[in-house]
Amino acid sequence: MTKIKACLFDLDGVIVDTAVYHFQAWRRLANELGFDFTEHQNEQLKGISRMESLELILNWGNVSLTEAEKVEWATRKNDWYLDLVKLMTPNEVLPGVAKFLTDLREAGIKIALGSASKNSKLILERINMLDYFDAIIDGNNITKGKPDPQVFLMGAEATNALPSECVVFEDAVAGVQAAKAGGMKAIGVGSADVLTEADFVIATFDEMTLERLNF
Ligand code: G6P
Ligand code: MG
Repeated sequence: MTKIKACLFDLDGVIVDTAVYHFQAWRRLANELGFDFTEHQNEQLKGISRMESLELILNWGNVSLTEAEKVEWATRKNDWYLDLVKLMTPNEVLPGVAKFLTDLREAGIKIALGSASKNSKLILERINMLDYFDAIIDGNNITKGKPDPQVFLMGAEATNALPSECVVFEDAVAGVQAAKAGGMKAIGVGSADVLTEADFVIATFDEMTLERLNF
């Protein structure tokens, strides 16, 4: 059993439920373009970059846009999304997260963020959680999105841990795949029916303890 040196956290849907705000903003975009999509389809957008998400959504609606129009719509979506993010408060941190991060710090285990979002620092500021993180790797640093392991490999490097010494927490199928592709343990946050490739799945961090990291 390898001793765990670092925990790498996805942001959206793991630390805080911004997934609902992404869904709201993307749905508004779809509706303005004359179609709709379901919460089930929305699962596919989790962990995926802004432009890749837009491509998927436009496909669902059979809408084709020029590259310039795509950038305009993505910017519009981000503005709607940020209007919702700006209203966020520290109360929105998901159950058990602050306690678990505090336990990790006290145990000397490093903490890194591994998110596809370009808004991650802003969100961590809003919820007052920036100080917990030893490293932040996000959409501004990476060239390859999940399921590519790049974001987590950079997190491991930034915390001086080997991939085998890292545990990743993820709510997205693509994120669990990224962790596994990087040779890391992956704990799913959400539903075991969706996150079938995770080592195990927790519904919330209330179920998580330091002991459960070593498996
Ligand atoms: C996370 C979310 C995705 C989102 C992506 C980019 O991975 O799960 O739904 O599309 O970040 O976020 P951004 O804030 O840069 O648009
Ligand atoms: Mg996520």
